[in-house]
Amino acid sequence: MARTALVTGGSRGIGAAISKALQADGYTVAATYAGNDEAAAKFTEETGIKTYKWNVADYDESKAGIAQVEADLGPIEIVVANAGITRDAPFHKMTPQQWGDVIDTNLTGVFNTVHPVWPGMRERGFGRVVVISSVNGQKGQFAQANYAATKAGDLGIVRSLAQEGAAKGITANAVCPGYIATEMVMAVPEKVREAIIGMIPAGRLGEPEEIARCVSFLVSDDASFINGSTISANGGQFFS
Ligand code: CAA
Repeated sequence: MARTALVTGGSRGIGAAISKALQADGYTVAATYAGNDEAAAKFTEETGIKTYKWNVADYDESKAGIAQVEADLGPIEIVVANAGITRDAPFHKMTPQQWGDVIDTNLTGVFNTVHPVWPGMRERGFGRVVVISSVNGQKGQFAQANYAATKAGDLGIVRSLAQEGAAKGITANAVCPGYIATEMVMAVPEKVREAIIGMIPAGRLGEPEEIARCVSFLVSDDASFINGSTISANGGQFFS
C-alpha cells in the first residue's frame, strides 16, 4: 500500500509543488490549507489530491485534522511541515501581533503538525519529517526578525527530532529554500526583489519544483541515513 504523506500549506506555492512531486513518486498525499477555499478546490480538481482546511497554529485543530486524514487515507508516514507566513516589518515598526502571528504559524505550527503524528511513527518504526525552513533562517533578513527566528528555530527542531527519532527509524531534515518564484516572494516590492535577485549568483529566482525535488529525495528510502541535515537550495546566495 502506498505511504501517506501530509503536506501543510500544500495547495499553493512551494507546498503545491511538493504535494504534486510526492504524488508523482507514488505516495497518497493530503494537502492542508488555511483559508483559500477557491485555490484548494482548484488544486484538488487539477491533481486529485485531497485538501483539508485547518489552522496549523492551533494544536487542537491540527490534531483533529490529522486524525481525519488518517481515518481517510491511513497512517501518516511522511510529514512535510511547509505552511508559513510573512509579516515583514523593520524591527522598530514590528508589532507584537506581527511577531506572534509568525511565531504561532511558522514555529508552533511545526510542533502542532509533527507532534500528533510522532507517536504513530515511533510505534511503526518508520517516519520521514521534513521541515521547510528558509535561507533567511540561516542568514537573517532585513525586516524579518520574526520570520528568521522561526526559520532558524526549524533547524533546532529537526536536529533534536533527528536524535530522538533515529533509533525508531524516523528521520527529520530541513530544506532551506532561497528566494523562489511564489506569491510570497512576488509580494516583496519590485525594487527590493530586483535587488535581492542581484545578490543571487544564479541570477534568478528558484522554481518551486527545485525545492520539491529536495523533499522527494529526503523522504525516499535512498535518504535513510540522512538525518538532522539541511539542504540549502538558494542559487548560491548563501552557504552555511
Ligand atoms: N537592506 C537594507 N535596507 C533596506 C532593505 C534591505 N534589505 N530593505 C529595505 N531597506 C531600507 C529602505 O531602503 C528604506 O531606507 P530609507 O528609510 O533610508 O529610505 C528602509 O529600509 C525602509 O524603511 P520603511 O520605513 O520605508 O520600511 P517599511 O516599513 O515600508 O517596510 C519593507 C518595507 C517591509 C522592509 C519592504 O522593503 C520589504 O518587504 N522588504 C523585503 C523583505 C524581504 O526580503 N522579505 C522576504 C520575503 S520572501 C520570504 O520570506 C521567503 C523566503 O523564505 C526567502
